[in-house]
Amino acid sequence: MAFRTLDQADLAGKRVLVRVDFNVPMENGKVSDDTRLRAAIPTIEELRRGGAKVILLAHFDRPKGKRVPAMSLKPIVEPLAKVLGVPVAFADDCIGPHARSAVAAMQPGDVLLLENVRFHPGEEANDRRFADALAANGDLYVNDAFSAAHRAHASTEALAHRLPAYAGEQMRLELDALDRALGNPERPVLGIVGGSKVSSKLDLLRHLVTRLDKLAIGGGMANTFLYAQGHDVGASYCEKELAETAREVIRLAGQNNCKLFLPLDIVVAEKLAPGAPARVRDVGSVDDDERILDAGPETVERLCRAMANSKTLIWNGPLGVFEIPPFDKGTLEAARYAAELCKAGKLVAVAGGGDTVAALNAAGVVDDFTFVSTAGGAFLEWMEGKTLPGVAALLK
Ligand code: 3PG
Repeated sequence: MAFRTLDQADLAGKRVLVRVDFNVPMENGKVSDDTRLRAAIPTIEELRRGGAKVILLAHFDRPKGKRVPAMSLKPIVEPLAKVLGVPVAFADDCIGPHARSAVAAMQPGDVLLLENVRFHPGEEANDRRFADALAANGDLYVNDAFSAAHRAHASTEALAHRLPAYAGEQMRLELDALDRALGNPERPVLGIVGGSKVSSKLDLLRHLVTRLDKLAIGGGMANTFLYAQGHDVGASYCEKELAETAREVIRLAGQNNCKLFLPLDIVVAEKLAPGAPARVRDVGSVDDDERILDAGPETVERLCRAMANSKTLIWNGPLGVFEIPPFDKGTLEAARYAAELCKAGKLVAVAGGGDTVAALNAAGVVDDFTFVSTAGGAFLEWMEGKTLPGVAALLK
């Protein structure tokens, strides 16, 4: 893609506004997963090496244009300084006198984090004047927040038109990986789409069946497909009103020569609780009080065979309720098998989406996949074939 990348920039002494995604999980006011902080390191280091002043712009949560103390970025400062191994300064606002004086105090190589951009209504409104106020503190702009690039906000979109704009290293890695998985993949390419709701993944399914050679549907959403094919799903979660839509996806897959894999067998239980007694059933033989909570062994075995016969895998969404054992088995086994194929150099496997990453973490295979995206919504929208405003704004 035609991006400016940092190796083309003269950085010495420049004030560089870097949009990062520090929307990290927190527990009791502490960062509980620092993946997104670590993802920002290569770009920050490259800028520091070049003698730039690194000014970080980020959002946290959804304060809706108001100053919400519980959504301050301040608790990020310490863990960020720790992963970077250098001090990180903090300014109480991302525009105005606080930001201005904090930037004026910087030396080349310094790192400054500005307060949550979403404390200002202009951020989500992609407001020109707010973008001008952000731009006033920078000479160059770098977007390294692929995971926020589906938002047309001032710090992800309008700002890119006000300063010379560059793609950061994490942005570049994400886009390269998605291109390898879906843009120009080595074929055959297999997709796995799981998770509970068909309704949240309709655009995704409709798009994927036109791009993939094979698509496996798992998780709660597979129940809707089974129901649409006339199978009894007992007390399972199921969006019955989407049965016709599911049949449309099946038809579309056929028209596009995309082989669809729906469950052959499933794991059921009467209640969803850790260690609940689970049984394997063929699809269609589910009792009224039983719920489908995982993919069955035959289904997983067939999926593994499909992986072995593919060159590329793109994965979004778990196959079962992986947070609650024993209903994690299908997802973990499939994830571990994909990781083995990757390690053996036989498969390019790219995964993304919040639950998916948590599932791969639970399987202990995040580092073995070819690429695991830091993005949730942005990964989905990209897989749906949509143009991401934050990416489009960077194109030369
Ligand atoms: C994310 O966590 O997916 C991104 O940071 C975007 O956050 P948002 O959904 O609140 O825009």
